[in-house]
Amino acid sequence: MRIALIGANGQLGTDLQTCLKGEIVPLGHQQIELTDDASVTAALDAARPDVVINTAAYNLVDKAEDDPDAAYATNVLGPRRLAQYCGSRNLVLVHFSTDYVFGLDASRSTPYQETDLPGPLGVYGASKLAGEYFVQANCPKHYVVRTCGLYGVAARRGAGKGNFIETMLRLGRERPELRVVNDQICTPTSTADLAAATAELVSSDAYGLYHATNRGQMSWYDLAVEALRLRGITIPVIPIPSSEFRSRAQRPTFSVLDSKNLETVLGHSMPDWHDAVARYLS
Ligand SMILES: NC(=O)c1ccc[n+]([C@@H]2O[C@H](COP(=O)([O-])OP(=O)(O)OC[C@H]3O[C@@H](n4cnc5c(N)ncnc54)[C@H](OP(=O)(O)O)[C@@H]3O)[C@@H](O)[C@H]2O)c1
Repeated sequence: MRIALIGANGQLGTDLQTCLKGEIVPLGHQQIELTDDASVTAALDAARPDVVINTAAYNLVDKAEDDPDAAYATNVLGPRRLAQYCGSRNLVLVHFSTDYVFGLDASRSTPYQETDLPGPLGVYGASKLAGEYFVQANCPKHYVVRTCGLYGVAARRGAGKGNFIETMLRLGRERPELRVVNDQICTPTSTADLAAATAELVSSDAYGLYHATNRGQMSWYDLAVEALRLRGITIPVIPIPSSEFRSRAQRPTFSVLDSKNLETVLGHSMPDWHDAVARYLS
């Protein structure tokens, strides 16, 4: 099986390179530009894949509010191109999406299932949702995998947009105290674990839409406290409401994803979030 891996140098792409079984053709941003038809066709023609995995995205959630065209070019028209390419050649397409397709239901307090109606709060979530629809509509053999708050070792060498844990550790060394939001509940997930689950899912032939996160739920405050504790950084961490942390984009107050469908296909659940953070920092 030949696999064209798009976004190969990002957090998830880097970990997928060590998990996938088959002949991988890594396609970094230098090798493929999702916003350009000719680039996508040329890169995929040269790769001659059986499976295309797209981990590339415009991930700058706040910036997307002011530059929706850039977010849509990569997150909507990019996957549309890939889905048309794969669909017309009967190839398999694996595409990643986000918990930020939810959030409009402010009263939600139970994990979201794949059958729940999405309702994004911002441009990034809306663009990722539209990307999902194009993949589903144009490529019958698809896996659309929604995940949350990714952290992977590639961020330590500056890949992609970095990650929350690395930011907290840096600020924890620089500042006398940290103030972190504790009213956004979700399940940030290790790309090592997501990559392992994806490698299994791809060999299942059980195409469709999946939620895939580590087990459990937490606030960003909880994650910051755990990461600092594991690194032995002992500064005060103050829980604050989102209203005190000014950001351009509104985030969901609750966006925990129910991964039961994935568990049924894999025959096991993904590791608990405490375990995932500990392995990431070990
Ligand atoms: N990161 C999160 O917290 C998070 C949460 C939920 C879902 N997700 C989804 O999970 C997937 C993987 O995320 P990640 O954290 O691994 O991403 P990442 O580390 O930011 O990596 C994304 C990669 O895509 C490349 N890329 C960006 N725009 C591109 C374009 N137009 N054409 C080709 N390549 C492009 C980037 O290259 P450059 O750096 O050179 O631009 C980067 O190497 C994405 O679909 C994302 O939406 C992420």
